Amino acid sequence: MNQHIETYQKRIEAFLQGLLEPSAPPAPHLLEAMRYSTLGGGKRLRPLLVYAAGEALGTPGRALDRIAASVEMIHVYSLIHDDLPAMDDDDLRRGKPTCHRAHGEALAILAGDALQALAFAVLVDEAIGLGPEARLRLMQELADASGVDGMAGGQAMDLAAQGKELSLDELETMHRLKTGALIRASVLMPARASAIDAGLVASLGAYADCIGLAFQIRDDVLDVEGDPTLMGKACGADTLLKKATFPALLGLESSRQRARDLVEQGLGYLQPLGPEADLLRFLARYIVNRMH
Ligand code: IPE
Ligand code: IPE
Ligand code: MG
Ligand code: MG
Ligand code: MG
Repeated sequence: MNQHIETYQKRIEAFLQGLLEPSAPPAPHLLEAMRYSTLGGGKRLRPLLVYAAGEALGTPGRALDRIAASVEMIHVYSLIHDDLPAMDDDDLRRGKPTCHRAHGEALAILAGDALQALAFAVLVDEAIGLGPEARLRLMQELADASGVDGMAGGQAMDLAAQGKELSLDELETMHRLKTGALIRASVLMPARASAIDAGLVASLGAYADCIGLAFQIRDDVLDVEGDPTLMGKACGADTLLKKATFPALLGLESSRQRARDLVEQGLGYLQPLGPEADLLRFLARYIVNRMH
């Protein structure tokens, strides 16, 4: 399985390289900032989920590369902005200085903006090999996951919750939006590429919701007990910023247990699927066991 994952990681890296190829752009320093944050780092979990869902559904590879690149670019944009002084004010990301530390705040903001635009452009392109209706469905899914009812909305809730104690329901909603929404889109976009049975889409969506929440709970846990060298980002920052997190509300052990339970629940939704869903199963387990 590790070999399989590495192959996909190399594949998305090469595809992103191609999309961010310097070909005499009008603002080469902006493209450099985009390349700096996008290339050569990260676990590529969202692209892996795209390829894994594609395996389960038999989605054509040409479409998967573009879907994977689009979700990863939204993710990278969200990380660049998340690290800005106005948000989490972090200095280290993916083992190197954050985008604004290396390129300045203005270019970091613009790099995020431009990555977001490129994420949609990649889905519009005919090279994706899908008809106009499928391309519209993909853009709708990504827009919903990224905007006020998705990642950006969740990030706004996260900032508003600093120094406050949220209820468990509110904390879950915040996590489902800021992180879960894009993970859900990663799993569902391959299904939107073709006409997939509604029941199967619902099961995949339920799986994605479980692992998306588990992923952010694990991120919160790792902020407390992780090794910053392995993580490539600072630990302890959530406590310092008085962030609303699972460990702060439930304690470490209950948070770990909640993440494990969610993954088991998520795996249950894959039961109707055969071995073609094994990568989805593997990634669910990886999410709660990961050390970075
Ligand atoms: C970090 O995401 C931000 C969260 C949504 C918790 P990842 O842990 O997937 O970061 P990379 O892509 O591997 O750097
Ligand atoms: C960020 O959550 C979620 C995003 C949408 C980027 P965090 O602020 O916990 O992510 P890290 O810990 O900085 O990677
Ligand atoms: Mg944050
Ligand atoms: Mg952060
Ligand atoms: Mg975090």
